[in-house]
Amino acid sequence: MGTRSGRWREQVINALNGLGVPCLIMNSRSIVKWYFTRKYREEDPYRIARNTCDMRYSDMLRMLAPMHFGKALDIGCGEGMLSEMLLSVCGHVDGMDISEAAVNRARNKFRNRSHLRFLAADILKAELMEKYDLIVCAEVLYYLTRNQLRAVLLKISSGLNARGYLLIGNIKRIQSSSGFFRSHIGAVEINGMIKEIGDYEVVKEEDRGGDILLLVRRRETACDPRSVGISFGSMLQ
Ligand SMILES: C[S@@+](CC[C@H](N)C(=O)[O-])C[C@H]1O[C@@H](n2cnc3c(N)ncnc32)[C@H](O)[C@@H]1O
Repeated sequence: MGTRSGRWREQVINALNGLGVPCLIMNSRSIVKWYFTRKYREEDPYRIARNTCDMRYSDMLRMLAPMHFGKALDIGCGEGMLSEMLLSVCGHVDGMDISEAAVNRARNKFRNRSHLRFLAADILKAELMEKYDLIVCAEVLYYLTRNQLRAVLLKISSGLNARGYLLIGNIKRIQSSSGFFRSHIGAVEINGMIKEIGDYEVVKEEDRGGDILLLVRRRETACDPRSVGISFGSMLQ
Protein backbone atom coordinates (compact mmCIF):
# COMPACT_ATOMS: atom_id res chain seq x y z
CA MET A 1 0.00 0.00 0.00
CA GLY A 2 1.48 3.33 -1.01
CA THR A 3 1.88 6.19 1.41
CA ARG A 4 -0.59 8.39 -0.44
CA SER A 5 -3.37 5.78 -0.44
CA GLY A 6 -2.61 5.05 3.23
CA ARG A 7 -3.04 8.72 4.13
CA TRP A 8 -6.21 8.93 2.07
CA ARG A 9 -7.66 5.89 3.84
CA GLU A 10 -6.77 7.31 7.25
CA GLN A 11 -8.42 10.63 6.36
CA VAL A 12 -11.62 8.86 5.30
CA ILE A 13 -11.68 6.83 8.51
CA ASN A 14 -11.09 9.94 10.62
CA ALA A 15 -13.83 11.82 8.78
CA LEU A 16 -16.31 8.96 9.32
CA ASN A 17 -15.28 8.69 12.96
CA GLY A 18 -15.91 12.41 13.28
CA LEU A 19 -19.40 11.86 11.91
CA GLY A 20 -19.99 9.28 14.64
CA VAL A 21 -19.88 6.09 12.54
CA PRO A 22 -16.68 4.51 13.80
CA CYS A 23 -17.85 1.04 14.85
CA LEU A 24 -18.47 -0.39 11.41
CA ILE A 25 -14.95 0.52 10.45
CA MET A 26 -13.20 -0.43 13.66
CA ASN A 27 -14.75 -3.87 13.73
CA SER A 28 -13.17 -4.73 10.42
CA ARG A 29 -10.16 -6.91 11.24
CA SER A 30 -8.46 -5.91 8.01
CA ILE A 31 -8.45 -2.29 9.10
CA VAL A 32 -6.91 -3.19 12.45
CA LYS A 33 -4.25 -5.25 10.71
CA TRP A 34 -3.67 -2.41 8.27
CA TYR A 35 -3.28 0.03 11.20
CA PHE A 36 -0.56 -2.09 12.84
CA THR A 37 1.13 -2.84 9.52
CA ARG A 38 1.50 0.92 9.05
CA LYS A 39 2.59 1.39 12.65
CA TYR A 40 5.43 -1.15 12.32
CA ARG A 41 6.80 0.30 9.11
CA GLU A 42 9.01 2.11 11.59
CA GLU A 43 11.19 0.00 13.89
CA ASP A 44 10.22 0.12 17.61
CA PRO A 45 7.23 2.48 17.04
CA TYR A 46 6.35 2.49 20.74
CA ARG A 47 9.91 3.57 21.68
CA ILE A 48 10.21 0.59 24.02
CA ALA A 49 13.91 -0.11 23.45
CA ARG A 50 14.73 3.59 23.71
CA ASN A 51 12.66 4.36 26.82
CA THR A 52 15.01 3.18 29.54
CA CYS A 53 13.03 5.02 32.26
CA ASP A 54 9.87 3.00 31.70
CA MET A 55 9.50 0.55 34.60
CA ARG A 56 6.44 -1.12 33.07
CA TYR A 57 8.14 -4.40 32.14
CA SER A 58 10.04 -4.71 35.42
CA ASP A 59 6.83 -3.93 37.34
CA MET A 60 5.08 -6.71 35.41
CA LEU A 61 7.87 -9.16 36.20
CA ARG A 62 7.75 -8.10 39.85
CA MET A 63 4.04 -8.95 39.93
CA LEU A 64 4.98 -12.53 38.97
CA ALA A 65 7.84 -12.99 41.44
CA PRO A 66 8.77 -15.30 43.06
CA MET A 67 6.75 -17.70 40.91
CA HIS A 68 8.23 -19.65 38.00
CA PHE A 69 6.15 -20.84 35.05
CA GLY A 70 6.60 -23.64 32.55
CA LYS A 71 5.11 -22.22 29.38
CA ALA A 72 3.92 -18.66 28.69
CA LEU A 73 2.18 -16.84 25.86
CA ASP A 74 2.73 -13.11 25.28
CA ILE A 75 -0.23 -11.82 23.23
CA GLY A 76 0.50 -8.62 21.28
CA CYS A 77 4.22 -9.16 21.83
CA GLY A 78 5.29 -6.50 19.32
CA GLU A 79 9.03 -6.82 18.69
CA GLY A 80 9.38 -9.31 21.52
CA MET A 81 11.16 -7.35 24.26
CA LEU A 82 8.79 -8.40 27.05
CA SER A 83 8.62 -11.98 25.70
CA GLU A 84 12.38 -12.22 26.03
CA MET A 85 12.35 -10.78 29.56
CA LEU A 86 9.67 -13.30 30.56
CA LEU A 87 12.26 -16.05 30.06
CA SER A 88 13.64 -15.00 33.46
CA VAL A 89 10.49 -16.46 35.06
CA CYS A 90 9.33 -18.96 32.39
CA GLY A 91 10.81 -22.09 30.85
CA HIS A 92 9.43 -21.29 27.39
CA VAL A 93 7.73 -18.23 25.88
CA ASP A 94 5.59 -17.95 22.74
CA GLY A 95 5.03 -14.41 21.46
CA MET A 96 2.09 -13.62 19.18
CA ASP A 97 1.41 -10.41 17.29
CA ILE A 98 -0.89 -9.30 14.49
CA SER A 99 1.98 -7.46 12.80
CA GLU A 100 4.20 -9.62 10.58
CA ALA A 101 6.88 -6.92 10.55
CA ALA A 102 7.00 -6.86 14.37
CA VAL A 103 7.20 -10.66 14.54
CA ASN A 104 9.95 -10.79 11.92
CA ARG A 105 11.99 -8.25 13.88
CA ALA A 106 11.43 -10.22 17.09
CA ARG A 107 12.56 -13.45 15.40
CA ASN A 108 15.62 -11.76 14.01
CA LYS A 109 16.54 -9.96 17.23
CA PHE A 110 16.23 -13.07 19.39
CA ARG A 111 17.28 -15.72 16.86
CA ASN A 112 19.94 -17.02 19.24
CA ARG A 113 17.56 -17.33 22.19
CA SER A 114 16.22 -20.80 22.74
CA HIS A 115 12.80 -21.46 24.30
CA LEU A 116 11.44 -18.35 22.59
CA ARG A 117 9.34 -18.40 19.41
CA PHE A 118 7.15 -15.91 17.63
CA LEU A 119 4.00 -16.18 15.59
CA ALA A 120 2.20 -13.63 13.41
CA ALA A 121 -1.50 -14.05 14.21
CA ASP A 122 -4.58 -12.12 15.24
CA ILE A 123 -5.73 -13.26 18.69
CA LEU A 124 -9.31 -12.89 17.49
CA LYS A 125 -8.76 -15.48 14.78
CA ALA A 126 -6.17 -17.80 16.32
CA GLU A 127 -7.36 -20.68 18.47
CA LEU A 128 -5.09 -21.71 21.28
CA MET A 129 -4.58 -25.44 21.13
CA GLU A 130 -1.67 -25.48 23.51
CA LYS A 131 -2.15 -24.89 27.21
CA TYR A 132 -0.14 -22.24 28.98
CA ASP A 133 0.79 -21.71 32.62
CA LEU A 134 0.88 -17.96 32.08
CA ILE A 135 -0.64 -15.65 29.47
CA VAL A 136 0.46 -12.02 29.30
CA CYS A 137 -1.36 -9.20 27.50
CA ALA A 138 0.61 -5.96 27.82
CA GLU A 139 -1.09 -2.90 26.34
CA VAL A 140 -3.11 -4.85 23.80
CA LEU A 141 -6.60 -5.60 25.13
CA TYR A 142 -7.80 -2.02 24.66
CA TYR A 143 -7.48 -2.42 20.92
CA LEU A 144 -10.49 -4.72 21.11
CA THR A 145 -14.14 -3.74 21.27
CA ARG A 146 -16.21 -4.94 24.24
CA ASN A 147 -17.58 -7.98 22.40
CA GLN A 148 -14.17 -8.90 21.04
CA LEU A 149 -12.64 -8.51 24.49
CA ARG A 150 -15.17 -10.86 26.06
CA ALA A 151 -14.45 -13.50 23.36
CA VAL A 152 -10.68 -13.11 23.84
CA LEU A 153 -10.93 -13.40 27.64
CA LEU A 154 -12.83 -16.68 27.26
CA LYS A 155 -10.32 -17.88 24.68
CA ILE A 156 -7.48 -17.05 27.07
CA SER A 157 -9.23 -18.90 29.86
CA SER A 158 -9.51 -22.03 27.73
CA GLY A 159 -5.83 -21.63 26.72
CA LEU A 160 -4.68 -21.68 30.35
CA ASN A 161 -3.83 -24.77 32.33
CA ALA A 162 -5.99 -25.36 35.36
CA ARG A 163 -4.95 -22.69 37.88
CA GLY A 164 -2.89 -20.91 35.21
CA TYR A 165 -2.24 -17.15 35.46
CA LEU A 166 -3.18 -14.17 33.30
CA LEU A 167 -1.20 -10.94 33.65
CA ILE A 168 -2.49 -7.83 31.92
CA GLY A 169 -1.46 -4.19 31.77
CA ASN A 170 -3.63 -1.47 30.26
CA ILE A 171 -3.72 2.29 30.18
CA LYS A 172 -6.69 3.83 31.95
CA ARG A 173 -7.84 6.22 29.28
CA ILE A 174 -7.79 5.47 25.59
CA GLN A 175 -6.63 8.35 23.46
CA SER A 176 -6.14 7.93 19.77
CA SER A 177 -5.17 10.73 17.48
CA SER A 178 -6.41 8.71 14.53
CA GLY A 179 -9.72 7.95 16.24
CA PHE A 180 -9.51 4.26 15.28
CA PHE A 181 -9.97 3.01 18.79
CA ARG A 182 -12.12 5.81 20.14
CA SER A 183 -14.95 3.60 21.36
CA HIS A 184 -12.64 1.08 22.96
CA ILE A 185 -12.31 0.66 26.70
CA GLY A 186 -9.58 1.30 29.26
CA ALA A 187 -8.07 -0.60 32.18
CA VAL A 188 -10.87 -0.05 34.72
CA GLU A 189 -13.55 -1.43 32.43
CA ILE A 190 -11.32 -4.25 31.13
CA ASN A 191 -10.49 -5.36 34.68
CA GLY A 192 -14.18 -5.08 35.57
CA MET A 193 -15.07 -7.43 32.73
CA ILE A 194 -12.41 -9.94 33.82
CA LYS A 195 -13.85 -9.99 37.35
CA GLU A 196 -17.41 -10.24 36.04
CA ILE A 197 -16.69 -13.17 33.70
CA GLY A 198 -16.03 -15.31 36.75
CA ASP A 199 -13.32 -17.53 35.20
CA TYR A 200 -10.58 -15.78 37.17
CA GLU A 201 -9.76 -14.88 40.74
CA VAL A 202 -7.75 -11.73 41.44
CA VAL A 203 -4.22 -12.28 42.79
CA LYS A 204 -2.79 -8.73 42.61
CA GLU A 205 -3.86 -5.39 41.17
CA GLU A 206 -1.49 -2.44 40.96
CA ASP A 207 -2.47 1.08 39.95
CA ARG A 208 0.62 2.70 38.42
CA GLY A 209 -1.05 6.06 37.79
CA GLY A 210 -1.57 6.04 34.04
CA ASP A 211 -2.11 2.32 33.81
CA ILE A 212 -3.20 -0.67 35.88
CA LEU A 213 -1.52 -4.06 36.14
CA LEU A 214 -3.71 -7.01 37.04
CA LEU A 215 -2.68 -10.58 37.84
CA VAL A 216 -5.48 -13.14 37.97
CA ARG A 217 -5.58 -16.90 38.28
CA ARG A 218 -7.90 -19.21 36.40
CA ARG A 219 -10.46 -20.82 38.68
CA GLU A 220 -10.60 -24.58 38.79
CA THR A 221 -14.32 -24.29 38.09
CA ALA A 222 -13.81 -22.28 34.85
CA CYS A 223 -15.35 -24.15 31.93
CA ASP A 224 -13.36 -25.11 28.86
CA PRO A 225 -15.72 -24.61 25.93
CA ARG A 226 -13.27 -25.07 23.07
CA SER A 227 -11.33 -28.14 22.19
CA VAL A 228 -10.68 -27.63 18.48
CA GLY A 229 -8.47 -25.11 16.74
CA ILE A 230 -5.14 -24.44 15.19
CA SER A 231 -2.03 -25.34 17.10
CA PHE A 232 0.52 -22.59 17.67
CA GLY A 233 3.21 -24.92 16.39
CA SER A 234 1.41 -25.60 13.11
CA MET A 235 1.07 -21.87 12.45
CA LEU A 236 4.75 -21.13 12.90
CA GLN A 237 6.39 -20.11 9.65
C1 LIG B 1 0.89 -0.92 22.26
S1 LIG B 1 1.63 -2.33 21.53
C2 LIG B 1 2.24 -3.21 22.96
C3 LIG B 1 3.43 -4.08 22.65
C4 LIG B 1 3.99 -4.86 23.86
N1 LIG B 1 3.04 -5.84 24.34
C5 LIG B 1 4.34 -3.92 24.97
O1 LIG B 1 3.67 -3.90 25.99
O2 LIG B 1 5.32 -3.19 24.85
C6 LIG B 1 0.19 -3.30 21.07
C7 LIG B 1 0.59 -4.54 20.28
O3 LIG B 1 -0.56 -5.38 20.14
C8 LIG B 1 -0.56 -5.91 18.82
N2 LIG B 1 -1.96 -6.28 18.52
C9 LIG B 1 -3.03 -5.45 18.40
N3 LIG B 1 -4.15 -6.14 18.13
C10 LIG B 1 -3.78 -7.45 18.08
C11 LIG B 1 -4.49 -8.66 17.83
N4 LIG B 1 -5.81 -8.65 17.55
N5 LIG B 1 -3.83 -9.84 17.86
C12 LIG B 1 -2.48 -9.86 18.12
N6 LIG B 1 -1.75 -8.74 18.36
C13 LIG B 1 -2.38 -7.55 18.34
C14 LIG B 1 -0.02 -4.77 17.97
O4 LIG B 1 0.50 -5.19 16.74
C15 LIG B 1 1.07 -4.22 18.90
O5 LIG B 1 2.32 -4.84 18.69
